[in-house]
Amino acid sequence: MQTQRIVLSALIKSVLPVGILAVLLVCVSISPAAESDSYSQDVEKMGEMTTIDCARCHHEIFMSIKNGQGAHRIECRECHETFHGFRRGMRYEDVLPTCTGCHETPHGESEQMTACKSCHAVPHAPLASLELKTLEPLCASCHADAGTRIASDRVDHGKLKCVLCHSDRHGYVPSCQECHGTPHSQEITEGFTGCLDCHGNPHDLSLATDDPDAGLKE
Ligand code: HEC
Ligand code: HEC
Ligand code: HEC
Ligand code: HEC
Ligand code: HEC
Ligand code: HEC
Ligand code: HEC
Ligand code: HEC
Repeated sequence: MQTQRIVLSALIKSVLPVGILAVLLVCVSISPAAESDSYSQDVEKMGEMTTIDCARCHHEIFMSIKNGQGAHRIECRECHETFHGFRRGMRYEDVLPTCTGCHETPHGESEQMTACKSCHAVPHAPLASLELKTLEPLCASCHADAGTRIASDRVDHGKLKCVLCHSDRHGYVPSCQECHGTPHSQEITEGFTGCLDCHGNPHDLSLATDDPDAGLKE
């Protein structure tokens, strides 16, 4: 009993100060005073910000350019020579680059065609953000030849909307077989490179040879 008590008090005497010291050390190490002493460190000056630096804050924009896969995949600072200059009283659009600053007006001067963002909805991914629905009423303004031809088509393609054939995305070109399968026997089409050899233009169907009976050998 006695020896146990002596051992216990010896333990307390030796362990307790060590414990108190440890607690004090922990307190000091997590105290705000020690943490905020940034000035105890040496810091290197940052170089000029790169696209990757911009991306850390403007992550969504970086991803939109990356995923857009288009020709706007160039360094941020090639377009944004100045940035972070916006102040109260300014108009936001006045501190940002304009499309026409680099491209002028590629589709003409009409009001419809100079509202760049009405079609190129995402400035950082101008092609990927084109939508067929927005373009639909304006196909013929840019593709005058197709528009004129189809308006005068004597056959059934004249009744069809552009986007029935050019579906899916802008620029998609269908094959005739997608809708018509193989209407003629191989005998008839042999020696011809494609449907349009005889049918002329998809927007203005005809049998585009001087001799309308060409290729229809009995
Ligand atoms: C600081 C210059 C700059 C600005 C501002 C700019 N672009 Fe571009 N753009 C370029 C360059 C450079 C290219 C690639 C070379 C080329 O096609 O001329 C390009 C290419 C494009 C292309 C072709 C895309 C492709 O992937 O082939 C489109 C469409 C386009 N830009 C639309 C726009 C629109 C819309 C705006 C405004 C929201 C705009 N651009 C603003 C410089 C710019
Ligand atoms: C090809 C030129 C071009 C490139 C490259 C480009 N931008 Fe832009 N950016 C623009 C144009 C044009 C606008 C203005 C769009 C508008 O009028 O709304 C713009 C707008 C912005 C805006 C403000 C509007 C918004 O969408 O929040 C930010 C922020 C921005 N860009 C950051 C970046 C960053 C970061 C990068 C690189 C990762 C980058 N840009 C690359 C042309 C570009
Ligand atoms: C530390 C974070 C951070 C970094 C890094 C950063 N930006 Fe910004 N940027 C912001 C914030 C915050 C705003 C204001 C809110 C907004 O528009 O997103 C802003 C706004 C902008 C704007 C629109 C307003 C203006 O005054 O021009 C552009 C353009 C822009 N940044 C481009 C860039 C470019 C280019 C880079 C790289 C060279 C870059 N930023 C790096 C945080 C950052
Ligand atoms: C009515 C919709 C519409 C408007 C408005 C519009 N664009 Fe386009 N833009 C297109 C389409 C569609 C293409 C063809 C894309 C392709 O090649 O697949 C295109 C292509 C481009 C190209 C690629 C080069 C070329 O001519 O093939 C550039 C650059 C461009 N547009 C810039 C602009 C600028 C700048 C504005 C505003 C002044 C603008 N666009 C307004 C729909 C539009
Ligand atoms: C703002 C002008 C513009 C509008 C609006 C527009 N296009 Fe285009 N389109 C272009 C340009 C520019 C190209 C690429 C250059 C080229 O091949 O003529 C193109 C390419 C195409 C092509 C591919 C041509 C090829 O040879 O591969 C098809 C198909 C097409 N457009 C159909 C349409 C249809 C359908 C619409 C309406 C839903 C439409 N376009 C609206 C400008 C436009
Ligand atoms: C019945 C289906 C069909 C309809 C409707 C149609 N196209 Fe086409 N278009 C085609 C096919 C098929 C081709 C490819 C022809 C080839 O292989 O040379 C084509 C080619 C094109 C091209 C590229 C070659 C060229 O002639 O410049 C453009 C641009 C185009 N069409 C625009 C339009 C527009 C605009 C409309 C509506 C006014 C339209 N198309 C309606 C089937 C159609
Ligand atoms: C997206 C579907 C589609 C595509 C692609 C398409 N057509 Fe058609 N085509 C039609 C429809 C719909 C009609 C009208 C059929 C009807 O009224 O019976 C038609 C009618 C025709 C006719 C007249 C048929 C008749 O009975 O008078 C010919 C010829 C024809 N197409 C040839 C072509 C050729 C050649 C191509 C390729 C350049 C083509 N088509 C591409 C849908 C298409
Ligand atoms: C050797 C010339 C020639 C070629 C090649 C050709 N056609 Fe025809 N096609 C004709 C003639 C001539 C007619 C009208 C005679 C008739 O009514 O059978 C016709 C009629 C059609 C019709 C109207 C429906 C029908 O069967 O009467 C369709 C649709 C058609 N062709 C689609 C096509 C498609 C799709 C191709 C390509 C796979 C094609 N043609 C290739 C000469 C050709």
